[in-house]
Amino acid sequence: MNSAKLTVNLGGDEKSMDLPVLIGTEAEVALDIRNLRQQLGVIVLDPAYGNTGSCTSAITYIDGEKGILRYRGIPIEQLGEKSTFVEVSYLLINGRLPNKHELSEYSRKLTMHSLIHEDMKHFFDGYPATAHPMAILSAMVCSLSSFYPEALDATNTEVFDITATRLLSKLRTIAAFSYKKSIGQPFMYPKNELSYCANLIHMMFATPCEPYPIDDDIVKVINLLLILHADHEQNCSTSTVRLVGSGQANLFASIASGICALWGPRHGGANQEVITMLAQIRKNGDDVNKFLTLVKDRQSGVKLMGFGHRVYKNFDPRAVLIKSAADKVLSKLGRNDPLLETAKRLEEAALKDSYFVDRRLYPNVDFYSGIIYRALGFATNMFTVLFALGRLPGWIAQWKEMNEDPSTRIGRPRQVYTGNTALDYTPIDQRE
Ligand code: ACO
Repeated sequence: MNSAKLTVNLGGDEKSMDLPVLIGTEAEVALDIRNLRQQLGVIVLDPAYGNTGSCTSAITYIDGEKGILRYRGIPIEQLGEKSTFVEVSYLLINGRLPNKHELSEYSRKLTMHSLIHEDMKHFFDGYPATAHPMAILSAMVCSLSSFYPEALDATNTEVFDITATRLLSKLRTIAAFSYKKSIGQPFMYPKNELSYCANLIHMMFATPCEPYPIDDDIVKVINLLLILHADHEQNCSTSTVRLVGSGQANLFASIASGICALWGPRHGGANQEVITMLAQIRKNGDDVNKFLTLVKDRQSGVKLMGFGHRVYKNFDPRAVLIKSAADKVLSKLGRNDPLLETAKRLEEAALKDSYFVDRRLYPNVDFYSGIIYRALGFATNMFTVLFALGRLPGWIAQWKEMNEDPSTRIGRPRQVYTGNTALDYTPIDQRE
């Protein structure tokens, strides 16, 4: 058996232990420190978890050096070209591709659960027109739990399938309703004859006034975008879902917390920020080099949004696919978005600049996705909502995997305390 010897010398008191070494199916090597504190009385400090595996997982594999992303072993490029979001959701959650019958049954169930309870429609009325749709989305997902009390017990595996199906189907309806609310248009109910992504387009863009023809190429590109976002192993929002779920919070509550985590501009909120950044660059004279100088000035606090990734250090395979899809969508729609042109010049300039080269910063999934969403007519504040919709099957799969693992314990990191040692309480009249 592989092992690693760890010795700790504290003021001459030397203790050591053999740490088991775990090797994953793709040769990732990990030291298992589960018994470290118990045996040596020390903990490890790893803020931001750059060197910490929080779980073992058989869902998604990433090789950040080679730019590889696979769901259940299947490369993202193949899934993007040949699959649909519904099929990928099945794959992530159930661990394998469905056969014909399973896929049609799964699609049917997703179709049958697309309505939200009519009472929920009134919830939307309580929000001001300025409400960010991510605020509405997370609150609505948590609120769903009140309509399905049987799902409150996270350990009840019998209701998992129906709960996951409801979530996948209804998140799309909630996303569309929150958009309609923000632009003051009537909600559009889903149509059962439409596929998952076609229904999303219908609920977002159709109005009761006239028919809204749905373009197959646009459905295809929405499928691609959702597939590319569907899982990304233990990122910030997924780790949040797992952490919240480890306390046995129900699936709705765990996913609502993941949505909140995704919202941040360093994570899924970056797609919205990229568009704001590009628009700002154009407004200030469209000088990409001037903007990069600002980014490189540490005092400015300005980041090149849509660039950099904790894991990918050569390229993000999702960004490559999205960039090529952006070109196709814009030419298909006959749109000439000046922001795409600025984005390409910005990327080119950054990739030649030693600041970005030395730090191995490349465009990530968010750099070009906003350009496509814009071309398709989505409002900028909906971009992160679309990311959440895509990431949902991954969050569900990770929550399920964690709950099925008998070794799961409540997630509870430790800390190194650096505050005051014991102090007496000072009565208020004796304080300075
Ligand atoms: N612009 C400018 N400098 C950057 C950027 C950037 N986008 N990203 C990283 N750096 C710099 C850091 O300042 C740091 O420089 P230093 O070594 O001189 O201190 C170095 O590159 C390493 O970066 P870290 O911040 O340590 O990288 P980390 O892995 O912690 O952060 C993150 C990754 C959050 C994605 C970061 O690259 C970033 O903020 N990018 C912009 C926001 C973004 O696009 N987020 C979406 C990520 S993909 C996703 O979540 C869907």
